[in-house]
Amino acid sequence: MQVLFSVSECFPFAKSGGLADVAYALPKALRNENVDVRIIMPKYSDINYDFLSKMKHITHFNVPVGWRNQYCGIEYLVIDGIPVYFIDNEYYFKRPGYYGYYDDGERFSFFSRAVLETINHIDDLKPDIIHVNDWHTAIIPVLLNEHYRNSQKHKIIKTVLTIHNLKFQGIFGKEVLSDLLSLNDGYYSEDNLKFYEGISFLKGGIIFSDKVTTVSKTYSNEIKTLSYGEGLHGLLSGIGDKLVGIINGIDYEIYNPKTDSYIYKNYDVNSINDKKENKLLLQRELNLPISPDIPLIGIVSRLTSQKGFDLVQKIMEDILRFDIQLVILGAGDFEYEQMFKYYAMSYPSKVSANICYSEDLSRKIYAASDMFLMPSHTEPCGISQLIALRYGSIPIVRETGGLRDTVKPYNQYTGEGWGFSFSNYNEFELLNTIKYAISIFKNPQLWNQIIKQAMSQDNSWKHSAQEYKRLYSSILK
Ligand code: ADP
Ligand code: GLC
Repeated sequence: MQVLFSVSECFPFAKSGGLADVAYALPKALRNENVDVRIIMPKYSDINYDFLSKMKHITHFNVPVGWRNQYCGIEYLVIDGIPVYFIDNEYYFKRPGYYGYYDDGERFSFFSRAVLETINHIDDLKPDIIHVNDWHTAIIPVLLNEHYRNSQKHKIIKTVLTIHNLKFQGIFGKEVLSDLLSLNDGYYSEDNLKFYEGISFLKGGIIFSDKVTTVSKTYSNEIKTLSYGEGLHGLLSGIGDKLVGIINGIDYEIYNPKTDSYIYKNYDVNSINDKKENKLLLQRELNLPISPDIPLIGIVSRLTSQKGFDLVQKIMEDILRFDIQLVILGAGDFEYEQMFKYYAMSYPSKVSANICYSEDLSRKIYAASDMFLMPSHTEPCGISQLIALRYGSIPIVRETGGLRDTVKPYNQYTGEGWGFSFSNYNEFELLNTIKYAISIFKNPQLWNQIIKQAMSQDNSWKHSAQEYKRLYSSILK
């Protein structure tokens, strides 16, 4: 079985969030299950030079983008046993960062068409399945259906769309249909791509793919409701078992406190006392008072309201009345960046605000923190809490999406559980949950037990990769 995994970002080449983690780890896990998965992604100029210099040019050709005819080079690299094709076009991808440009619609229309054209130019690339991810590649099943019906190599291809975040849909004006996608006006209807007065790439993917997955069971149900459906709840409720929720995992080799070279001192579930060393050294590095007894709460996140920072904002003064330390690593909305900078200046012995993106510091925070704060409003799966669990940092989360499915709240009567959670999106519930976690932290024996339970969870990809494999097989029959 051959699968072409099409994606806009992939660790370690380009990462803005959890999508990149999945794009690396799921193909790797599937290859262990004997699926011939290959990744295809844009060749961004921000990819580390070490990788850029190792890429091999395979071929080049032109790709139609509406009336345009654009150059497309194919570069190739194998990372940890996974073959990766990079789509090269400097006009579209030689820019800082990955997204947020006025012409993202054109850039990813080009990329999507280029994925389909690549199949014509590489002999041993004969995918049975194209697995597309989020809006950037969701238009591929539509283009496949319209433009490649008569191509021998394409005719047999089935498609799977994974929705990592329904909030971003790729919504553009109607003119994009002909201007970028060479699709006729027939596609501008309610049962096709029409979305209010424009078109939605993601809606196209949902309708034209053979299966739709999303990254947790709970989120697969949430998106069928008005509150979480982002205008597509009707469609998503109507597709029955074409929609499946499969929980993400994390790569257990990359995220392993026993071997992670970014952290100060390696440890595992049998040596959690060594975890303390990480805390003391991070406190020193960030100029916080050095103390094993003050609970250190970590945040590693995009700073947006999706992640619950509007709740955090409302109770910052209250949180800071507790004897705690708060270490933030993140970037995003100006409002939240400013807020954390303000509190770091006002409470230098309690708050460290690191407004940037840093792989290195993120690992140190996962290893050093006692608790990991992630009170998301919406969380399709969440990778950060899975990393936190692996590093024995106890998640404080809201019960939504993948947070609900992966963080079992500590139960003081049975002793079960490995996190703290609250249900309603409400700052008082959040505050009480933090307060409760701090009270449990004061009992070291109990806390160590919770760390052990957290670190013993199996959130590796093995099980979910097998589920994907079964899903692929089911549509090839
Ligand atoms: P999302 O994809 O919605 O941002 P996830 O929890 O699925 O959230 O994944 C976030 C990923 O990005 C995790 O691997 C997390 O460690 C990483 N991350 C987020 N912000 C930063 C940052 N500022 N620096 C380093 N890593 C970050
Ligand atoms: C999205 C979601 C996040 C999920 C990630 C990987 O970024 O916001 O919850 O973990 O995709 O699927």
